[in-house]
Amino acid sequence: MPAKSFYVTTPIYYVNDVPHIGHAYTTIAADCIARHKRLKGYDVYFLTGTDEHGQKVEKSARSAGLKPIELADSVVGRFKNLWQKLNISNDAFIRTTEDTHKKAVNYIWEKIKAKGDIYLGEYEDWYCTPCESFFPEKQLIEGKCPDCKRSVEKIKEISYFFRMSGYQDALLRHIEANPDFIQPDAKRNEVVNFIKEGLRDLSISRTSFSWGIPVPDDPKHVIYVWFDALINYLTAIGYPDDMDKFNKFCPADLHLVGKDILRFHTVYWPTFLLSADLPLPKKVFAHGWWTVDGQKMSKSLGNVVDPNEVIERYGVDQFRYFLLREVPFGLDGDFSKTALINRINGDLANDLGNLLSRTTAMVVKYLDGDIIKPDTWNPQDDSLRNVLEESVKNFEAAMDELAFSRALTSVWTVLSRTNKYVDEMAPWTLARDAGKRERLIQVLYNVLEILRVIGIILHSFMPQTAEKIWKQLGIEKCFSNLTFSEEVKWGGLHGGIKLTRGEILFPKVEGL
Ligand code: ME8
Ligand code: MG
Repeated sequence: MPAKSFYVTTPIYYVNDVPHIGHAYTTIAADCIARHKRLKGYDVYFLTGTDEHGQKVEKSARSAGLKPIELADSVVGRFKNLWQKLNISNDAFIRTTEDTHKKAVNYIWEKIKAKGDIYLGEYEDWYCTPCESFFPEKQLIEGKCPDCKRSVEKIKEISYFFRMSGYQDALLRHIEANPDFIQPDAKRNEVVNFIKEGLRDLSISRTSFSWGIPVPDDPKHVIYVWFDALINYLTAIGYPDDMDKFNKFCPADLHLVGKDILRFHTVYWPTFLLSADLPLPKKVFAHGWWTVDGQKMSKSLGNVVDPNEVIERYGVDQFRYFLLREVPFGLDGDFSKTALINRINGDLANDLGNLLSRTTAMVVKYLDGDIIKPDTWNPQDDSLRNVLEESVKNFEAAMDELAFSRALTSVWTVLSRTNKYVDEMAPWTLARDAGKRERLIQVLYNVLEILRVIGIILHSFMPQTAEKIWKQLGIEKCFSNLTFSEEVKWGGLHGGIKLTRGEILFPKVEGL
């Protein structure tokens, strides 16, 4: 039987802005789930990329004295470079300026048009360029964009419309029948209320600027950037040319997005798909918003956090861990160096790094560095092993719900229990008594074995750390060929090898 497929996406990011921690957050979360699913035996397709058309990008390029494509080319490099540094394991990177994408957008346009769902009309309402979004007058708040609170401009132009209103009932029925479609639940209610206020037809072309994909047969118009952008999820899996690949991965299992763009993904996107007779994604998950030191991140405040600087100073896995541990996925969070340092010095250095370091030191000191697998099991250790097995179950259940922080909490339950076990068993005392050598071997093996299992569990969160832990335990397997369920089974650590003590996993951070 072929492996089950799992298709996960991040938003494609606008190239008017350089990558910051918000973009890193979604991409790291998607990477974590992609890696976990691979270990669970899925054939994963993990997509990220850039959204390069539209008025916003055109404006930014103009003020930088560049052509839009020149701006795009330079910013794309910064995204790709950051993803590489962060060990993002994406299978593809899509740019909306690629020919294959333009072709797919044309194809969908024609398909929707043939269905009778595109017509020419006059648009007269408001537009928010930062959000690339249309609003009727009554939705404005004090004359400003209801989403980002910035100024909007009045638009009166002939444009093509998509008959979104015709899909209101079908969409509501779909949401009701598929409670997993929009997550978290609270967000689903917001979307349902929005739809129930009535879906209007959507303007899907513009004539007042030119940086976009021309409307087929009417090139005075360029296609609305969100119509263009959302279709990337189809292009990237081969639509419409490679239907084998397409059928393998469609529909997407998971679109990860920030809460700012949930409506585009749960109202516009599914109605386009319904019109095109294509299946809807299985889940759209909206995560929360990061502020920095309690403030909204913004260029004008000058407080935008550059992930490159953070990882340079504090480390890649430290950053990955912090983002996914600090805030339950779905809620808003605040980034501060103090909070990051507390996690590094506490969870990572004390609880995890120190356990590995003191255990390997004892193996060197008391057993000559030999990893010895005991011949006997001491029932006194049942409860330790139960904590591990219980935590692995909790971890997997949490991952299925994208509850990253809870998944990590279950790993730290094992770590604190194991640290306590070492203190209680006091190998340093056992080592003084030759008659207790068998017990010493059992105790040290148990701790090393737990560290081995923690290595496989943490791999999807901290890939480099997982490798470092395994290397010290003398394990030379490659994570890309492993199966989670096999590797978490007790007793996988072989005896008869020397361990190699390595560098400290997480040096403590002093001061900011
Ligand atoms: O919206 N906290 O692109 P974009 C958390 N091109 N996440 C954040 C964040 C923050 N402070 N800031 C940004 C677009 N993000 C469109 C998407 S998809 C077909 C088109 C993340 O560059 C979060 O994932 O504005 C958010 O949804 C996304 O960046 C917006 O990126
Ligand atoms: Mg944005």
